[in-house]
Amino acid sequence: MADNEIDNSASIRPVPVAIDSRLALDGGSPVRQSPWPTYDRGAVCVYPEDEEAALRAIRSHLYFRYDYRPAHETECGRFEAELCRYFGCKHALATSSGTTALALAIMAAGIAPGSLIACPGFTFAATPSAIMLAGCTPFLVDVDEDLHLDVADLRKRWTSEIKGIMVVHMRGFAGDMAALLDFADDMGVPVFEDAVPALGAELGGRKLGTFGLAGAFSTQSDKSLNSGEGGFLVTDDSALFARATVLSGAYEGRLRRHFPDGEPPIPTDLDLPLLSFRMDEIRAALLRSELERLPIRLAAFRTNYDYVASALADVRNIQIRRPVAPGAYLGEAFIFRVPGRAQWFARALCHEGIEARNLGSDADTNIRAFWNWRFLFTGMATAAVQDLLPNATRYLQEAVDIPLSSTLTQADCDHLIAAVRKVAEAAAGQP
Ligand SMILES: Cc1ncc(COP(=O)(O)O)c(C=O)c1O
Repeated sequence: MADNEIDNSASIRPVPVAIDSRLALDGGSPVRQSPWPTYDRGAVCVYPEDEEAALRAIRSHLYFRYDYRPAHETECGRFEAELCRYFGCKHALATSSGTTALALAIMAAGIAPGSLIACPGFTFAATPSAIMLAGCTPFLVDVDEDLHLDVADLRKRWTSEIKGIMVVHMRGFAGDMAALLDFADDMGVPVFEDAVPALGAELGGRKLGTFGLAGAFSTQSDKSLNSGEGGFLVTDDSALFARATVLSGAYEGRLRRHFPDGEPPIPTDLDLPLLSFRMDEIRAALLRSELERLPIRLAAFRTNYDYVASALADVRNIQIRRPVAPGAYLGEAFIFRVPGRAQWFARALCHEGIEARNLGSDADTNIRAFWNWRFLFTGMATAAVQDLLPNATRYLQEAVDIPLSSTLTQADCDHLIAAVRKVAEAAAGQP
């Protein structure tokens, strides 16, 4: 184990944290004095062996994945093979970003430009942006009280112009895949998974990203696999994979390298434009090295999350986000709802030294709240946009979101628990 990796293997018990019952917001002492270790800020989960891997690629002077080498001798080709083993899927394609992976999935599925693609009103703005990049139009759907895409709402709003559904496993929580796949099957449209926030998370023992026709991931800098920029696509559909590969920029027969045991399942690579959404060899080398340690990092997320969630389960005035099935979350974010008080609650937590955000705060232009996607609603007033998805609006306005870095120590978790209890108690005592 590296020095800066935490050992969460031992069972941990809450440690009482001495607290001043007066809120820091009201001049009391904060629960925590040091900054909350939010996300990785690029640095903490990259190890000397990862640097060596990247240097190996740099020193090779072979930076382009499609030079003279066969795929199994390239970093990108090896990374893709390792991803197939990790996800238990037939195909993986390394891409330039999560957004391009999402767009490639839609385009390679043959969805006609101009079609509507349904997606939830709670996601990062990259989801509707990727739908637009694929030449389609985002069709927003409400979310339920646990912030999952609401399949009943999708059924209610359904129109025959919707040609695909993009589920998002937002903040690491799995969408309700059984209900969604059944519904999509009835409607005869594919499901794509924006699994960017849920790399490595599972639902019923199966990795998120492998339920739909294709799943997309990002390797941008604050993700569990971090190459600064980058992403990948996973799928079992060979024709979709072949088209996505050409679209990503495999020209003049290079597609064949992805099918070493036979002919590619599409007749020609000349029917599709080349969009240059490829990954390069340096990033792939870095990611291959990081992938080896991913299970350790995922275990740390899970241990921290379960520790915090079980210690706060009895707090009556917060409603902790519920997964669609036991264990169907990554553990990278602790989210709860505080109807009527979320903005104040998040602010009080920040004063206690815990980085917390009210997802639907009107004082914070959070790009995960659909009414801030001005590019979709030119000229509309915020209230009119919010009326389009009343439940997403309400539940985001009620939600408090706290990032749980995989590097949190037990002391960090104890601070978080103490701070949430302190603020919740203060809230209970107020009118
Ligand atoms: C839900 C979601 N989808 C897509 C993306 C886009 O990934 P990228 O930044 O690699 O394009 C992000 C980025 O954070 C995201 O959170």
